Amino acid sequence: MSTVTTTTSVPTPSVGTGHTRVEGRDKVTGAARYAAEVPFAGLAHGWLVLSTIARGRIRALDTEPVLAMPGVLAVLDHRNAPHLNTDYAGLLGKPDPTCAVFQHDRVPHFGWPVALVVAETPEQAREAAEALVVHYEEEPHDVELTSDHPDCRPLDGHMPAVTEKGDLEARLASSAFVVDVEYSTPEEHHNPMEPHAATARWDDGRLEVTDSNQGVTWVAGELQNLFSLDPASVRVRSEHVGGGFGSKGVRAHQVAAVMAATMLQRPVRVALTRRQMFTLTGHRSPTIQRVRLGADADGRLRALEHRSVSRTSTFHDFVEPSAGAARVMYDADAHHTANNVVPLDVPTPTWMRAPGEAPGSFALEAAFDELAEKCGIDPIELRLRNEPEAGPVSGLPFVGRNVAACFREGARRFGWADRDSRPGVRREGRWLLGTGTAAASFPAGSAPSTATATAHPDGTFTIRISAADIGTGARTALALIAADALQVSPERIRVRIGDSDFGPAMIAGGSMGTRSWSWAVKEAAGELRERLALGADLPAQGLTVRSDTTEAVGALGPAERHSYGAQFAEVAVDVTTGEVRVRRMLGIFAAGRIVNPLTARNQLLGGMVWGISMALHEEAARDRASGGVVGADLAGYHVATHADVPRIEADWIEDTDPDDPVGIKGIGEIGTVGAAAAVANAVWHATGVRHRSLPIRPDRVL
Ligand code: MOS
Repeated sequence: MSTVTTTTSVPTPSVGTGHTRVEGRDKVTGAARYAAEVPFAGLAHGWLVLSTIARGRIRALDTEPVLAMPGVLAVLDHRNAPHLNTDYAGLLGKPDPTCAVFQHDRVPHFGWPVALVVAETPEQAREAAEALVVHYEEEPHDVELTSDHPDCRPLDGHMPAVTEKGDLEARLASSAFVVDVEYSTPEEHHNPMEPHAATARWDDGRLEVTDSNQGVTWVAGELQNLFSLDPASVRVRSEHVGGGFGSKGVRAHQVAAVMAATMLQRPVRVALTRRQMFTLTGHRSPTIQRVRLGADADGRLRALEHRSVSRTSTFHDFVEPSAGAARVMYDADAHHTANNVVPLDVPTPTWMRAPGEAPGSFALEAAFDELAEKCGIDPIELRLRNEPEAGPVSGLPFVGRNVAACFREGARRFGWADRDSRPGVRREGRWLLGTGTAAASFPAGSAPSTATATAHPDGTFTIRISAADIGTGARTALALIAADALQVSPERIRVRIGDSDFGPAMIAGGSMGTRSWSWAVKEAAGELRERLALGADLPAQGLTVRSDTTEAVGALGPAERHSYGAQFAEVAVDVTTGEVRVRRMLGIFAAGRIVNPLTARNQLLGGMVWGISMALHEEAARDRASGGVVGADLAGYHVATHADVPRIEADWIEDTDPDDPVGIKGIGEIGTVGAAAAVANAVWHATGVRHRSLPIRPDRVL
């Protein structure tokens, strides 16, 4: 037994100072392993066979010849796969049937999993999977999203589908200026650097899944429900994750791996190819959005309507809530918003970075730019004149609404005051130049989490929490938070994450991860410090304190609580080729207390690059004939890279959430909100032409 004190030399606070990633060295030296790289003795490999039709029925699978191929161990399909329990409510309600594989012979979309071939090596599994002949009874399919589709209906997501106050038509009719425009955004795919992969095995009566996901307790809970297992008998680990963006929940590959491991009683890995990810890991639905704005002569909004139509699958509900941003950003006497869906023969869409806000802010903030042009008012001034007093729909007070401060700081640094508002008048050789701006908002939430803090006799500490670091730097941020709570330097702290045995915690999603986890980490570490300061005994195995933030999070009162931002872009448009180049970009954010400026800046810049990508490049072309995505790979699906952004800067203003123990709001998604609109508005300023369909491809510009 020994005692340690943590308070003898109190270091300066770690939160707010830049720290490189604690796992950075492991990552660049290859010591950090992704899920598909973790070795297992006796590992077998599964390869998914995906449907080549978009709608119909499986008539037969010729498995005999495939079972005779070298190394093949089994073929799983709807005839021999274990029965799954799908009658439960998970994080997203009932499970998406795309992940509840091999339960029936129906095919509801192109690329639907129809079989899993398991073999000794991945190559053998792939060869056999490609040789498997599947006979289908094909039916006509429909993958075309239109706003007047007969099956279009409102759909509640995490927010109500429809909000309405005031007489919209009357207010529009009496407005001095009216904008009535339709915008569209295409189908988009997450494309994290690390493809999805999972290895399942049974170890002494316990199911253990080594996975790449955004929440181990989430995936463990889903698997436990699907396979009707005891909660204690499922363990999911996900230590290093190469990006998720909303796509890394429970999907077909984990479920198929568990089925195969159960049937074969040996470890089975199922890794997806980039191409398979285009049908199996969710995507962002295309949207068609109508925005109507009516304003007085002085630019004050009298009427606002934002209606969005997105797509869901025929077998599961998901809505891209694009009309949600208007409920936070702008008020009007008449204020109507609606999120609608059309069920089509496509995979179910899912959360993709800033779900709703990303496409929604494009339409809303581009429409605001159009209104500014009509009113003859500077777009920033127009926004400042329309700052709401309270939540336009909720009526609730705002907690720290710093939109105006972001615009003032951004305008100063971007040089907005010198801007000539006329479009299409700046030319540099064959390039037309323009600048644009847009506002951003994203909800700041938190959810209960548990964590443990352990003091070791050697003076070090271990934090355990089933958090996920999907590339955000969450692991490092939690080390800084724990360091301050323990009043020690962060070098003395080890943060262990990505193991469902550490207890329930929020997922890395909704910009809520670090904020939610920090509540639990701060509480556990703070209590541990108190116990040590009181001279608690320190046994050889260490002293451990567990925290649970359920009550603390529940006590947060209702309010409009968001992160905000102001985005600025300068573009050059080639009049001979129609190419748009972003010359510089600036984002100023009010996103709560910034825990680690180094990784926070990185994350915000990444979000802004996503905005460039959305504005200019990303577009999945769904083929009407086959129902599948054409060019479903990184050659056919273009994403912005560093070369697309020569000068980009993200910064923030002082903005601490008074009700959060650390002052955090959340930075996961705000960086991408408004970024596409800023680019699109700059393209208008350069050319005098409004591009209301993304991406702004060269052929559309010419
Ligand atoms: Mo994010 S779309 O909540 O992973």
